[in-house]
Amino acid sequence: MGAEPLEIHLDDQDIVRSLGHDVRVGLTAEAKWLPPRWFYDARGSELFDEITRLPEYYPTRAERAVLAERATEIADLSGAKTLIELGSGSSEKTRLLLDAFTRRGDLGTFVPLDVSIDALRASTARLAADYPGLRVRGIVGDFTRHLDRLPTGGRRLVAFLGGTIGNLLPDERAEFLARMRAALEPGDWLLVGTDLVKDPAVLVPAYDDAAGVTAEFNRNVLRVLNRELGADFDPEAFAHVARWDPDREWIEMRLRAERPMRVRVIDLDVDFAAGEELRTEVSAKFRPEGIAAELAAAGFRAERFWADPDGRFGVSLARAE
Ligand code: SAH
Ligand code: AVI
Repeated sequence: MGAEPLEIHLDDQDIVRSLGHDVRVGLTAEAKWLPPRWFYDARGSELFDEITRLPEYYPTRAERAVLAERATEIADLSGAKTLIELGSGSSEKTRLLLDAFTRRGDLGTFVPLDVSIDALRASTARLAADYPGLRVRGIVGDFTRHLDRLPTGGRRLVAFLGGTIGNLLPDERAEFLARMRAALEPGDWLLVGTDLVKDPAVLVPAYDDAAGVTAEFNRNVLRVLNRELGADFDPEAFAHVARWDPDREWIEMRLRAERPMRVRVIDLDVDFAAGEELRTEVSAKFRPEGIAAELAAAGFRAERFWADPDGRFGVSLARAE
C-alpha cells in the first residue's frame, strides 16, 4: 500500500511564528527557558537517535524490553485497526507493535505524527517498504495543537512512547491528556511510556553522557534559533547542564552562559550574565500511582502497567472511558 504523501499542519511560516512566540515569552522571562520541541530539526532528530544508543541512556532499551514482551498482549487487548504514534521520531520500537498487529492481521493504518518533517520522511519511507500491507499516513504536526486532526473511525490505539510525555510541564501534561481524551471515543486506547523515578546516580549520566552527545543535542536548539530566526548565539559559549530536581522529580537540561553575552534574536537584545542558565528541557520521572492518577483525572482507565525487569521504565495501557 505504501506511504501516503505527508499531511502537513506545520509549514515553515508557522514554525517561524511559533518559535518567535516561544522566544519572546521564554527569553524575556526572569528565569530564561525554551520549550524542548525546538531541538528536533534534522540534526536534532539524528542526535536524539544517537542518544538512544549511548550506554548511559537506558530509557530506550528499557522501554524496548517492555514492548518486546508485551506487544502481542497490547495488540490482542486493543484489537486496534489504526495505530497512531505521537512524537514518533524513527518509530524503531514501534516496529514491535507493528509486528504484533501484523501477526493478528487486522491493522489497516499506521499514523505517525511528529514536528520533525525530516524524521517523518525517513521513517514513513522505511516503514512502507517493510510493511507492504500497511497504509502509512504521516502527519507533520504538534501533539499539543493538532490532536483534532487525527484520523477517526475504527478502534484506535494512540502510542506515546519514549517518555516524551515527561517533557511536558505538569499543567501542559494535564491539558494534553484531557485533549487526548477529547480526541478519542470511549473504548479507544492510549499506550504511554514513562521513565520512572530512580537513583540520580543513574539518571544524571543518562542526560550528561561521557561522549558529549547530549551536550550537542542541547546546544542544537541555539543552532535552530540562529538558522530559523537569524539569531547570533555562539553555541560553544554555552555549557551543557543536567540537574536532578528531587522535589519535582525531574531532570532539567540547561545551557549555562560561560561569559556575559548580548544576543540578537528577532528584534530583541537578550542579555546573559556570566553563569546565567537557560532551561531547555524538563524530563519528568514518574511513580506508577502518579501515572494512574493522571490518566484517571483525564478520563482514562489504566488497564495495565508494565515495567522492565530492572524497574527503570513503565508502559501503561489505558482505555478511554
Ligand atoms: N518516540 C520516539 C522519539 C522520542 S524523541 C522514541 O521513543 O524514541 C521525541 C520526539 O517527539 C521527536 O521525534 C520530536 O521531533 C517529537 N516532538 C517533540 N515535541 C513535539 C511536539 N510538540 N509535537 C509533535 N512531536 C514532537
Ligand atoms: C524525548 N525525550 C523523552 C527525551 C528525554 O529523555 O527526556 C529527550 C532527551 N533529552 C535528553 N536526552 C534525551
